[in-house]
Amino acid sequence: EKISLDAGYLKNMIGEEELFDWEDPVEKAHYDLHNEMGKGNDFVGWVNQPRDFDMEELEKVQETAKRLRENTDIFLVVGIGGSYLGAKAGIEMLTPFFYNDSEKLRGEGPRVYFAGHHLSGRYLEELLQVLEEGEVSINIISKSGTTTEPAVAFRILKNYMENRYGKKEAAKRIVATTDREKGALKELADKECYETFIVPDDIGGRYSVLSPVGMLPMAVAGINVEDIVKGAKDAYAQLLEPEIKKNPCYQYSVYRNILYGKGKKIEILANFDPRLTYFGEWFKQLFGESEGKEGKGIFPATLNFTTDLHSMGQYIQEGERTLFVTVLRVEDEEAETTIAKDHKNLDGLNYLTGKTLGEINEKALQGTLAAHYEGEVPGMILTLPKLDAYYFGYMVYFFMKACGLSGYLLGVNPFDQPGVEAYKKNMFRLLGKPQ
Ligand code: PA5
Repeated sequence: EKISLDAGYLKNMIGEEELFDWEDPVEKAHYDLHNEMGKGNDFVGWVNQPRDFDMEELEKVQETAKRLRENTDIFLVVGIGGSYLGAKAGIEMLTPFFYNDSEKLRGEGPRVYFAGHHLSGRYLEELLQVLEEGEVSINIISKSGTTTEPAVAFRILKNYMENRYGKKEAAKRIVATTDREKGALKELADKECYETFIVPDDIGGRYSVLSPVGMLPMAVAGINVEDIVKGAKDAYAQLLEPEIKKNPCYQYSVYRNILYGKGKKIEILANFDPRLTYFGEWFKQLFGESEGKEGKGIFPATLNFTTDLHSMGQYIQEGERTLFVTVLRVEDEEAETTIAKDHKNLDGLNYLTGKTLGEINEKALQGTLAAHYEGEVPGMILTLPKLDAYYFGYMVYFFMKACGLSGYLLGVNPFDQPGVEAYKKNMFRLLGKPQ
């Protein structure tokens, strides 16, 4: 089964024929992506990655994950941006909600925490206290090997590990994922004899979730990474068709560009399942960094429904008409609990007797989209049969491809991020970093 796109809630805004006006540009963008002919063509290694998947490396990832799972109670992932969001999204989506809190739910795996994704000293101080509760291992991830946030966190954590375990044992408990040859982290990892994994040269941070950047932390958390690869491979094969009509991924890309042209400048990726909260964060980085440049680009936002219907629902329904909504719909949430009958019916809920929460959630989804449609907020629905490793792999590839193509349709280079340097320059100057 595939991920399917329902564009029914676009009807009052976009005529069917409008989609096909984009046939030529889509075909060109498709060939540019696949033949490495477009902007940023040094960074399209992710396009054919599922087809040519490096299974040997995956095996190595799995072996390391197995070794770490055996001697680790608390696993730390240190990274920022594309070097953490993919793993975080996968772990949040594919492990139980209360994974870190419940040994029973966690099984054999370690608790998993993240660091190096901000500069809160308080967070690190408290984290160091948590580390005292068990045996610790760390995966430091940075493609450039020079990013300040993870480097600062890692200096503190490395010190902690060496004081606690001694240099030799600490080195066995640290794995570095970084560039093949460049960067401070690579040099440090070589000197300290850390096991290392490589971020491919031709894959940028936000497109790297299927490389060891995402796969090692997910494997340590007990996720079946082979299923992720299967999902990505199927997505690769099924989304290979340049014709818009036959490719839901390209339809999604084109619809968002049509909507942008009609003044819908903000896309809300909405989920109705809290397992997808961090998938939204991953999506925001992917599209925000890829498209927001040259004074252009849809502003990607995420909302978690139904929670945020009670905070942002008012704005969406009646605020500025610059929004559209893309809903991630999960067909089977794989939970059975039903609402029982209550003879007194004091809460007035007997009309729901026998229904599962999933059934109620589905009505909330349809009701919300219909209301938004009436309120001139167009919507698309992407349906996933269920949330598992296979569909995680499928979905990340779907969105990466949609993003690459969409960036080309917009006329930007979706694979660079020159704007990220601006804050760094000021910060370094203010901190007196040597030139
Ligand atoms: O997508 C990107 O390239 C960025 O978001 C990077 O992932 C992020 O800045 C972290 O970079 P690095 O992995 O070099 O530490």
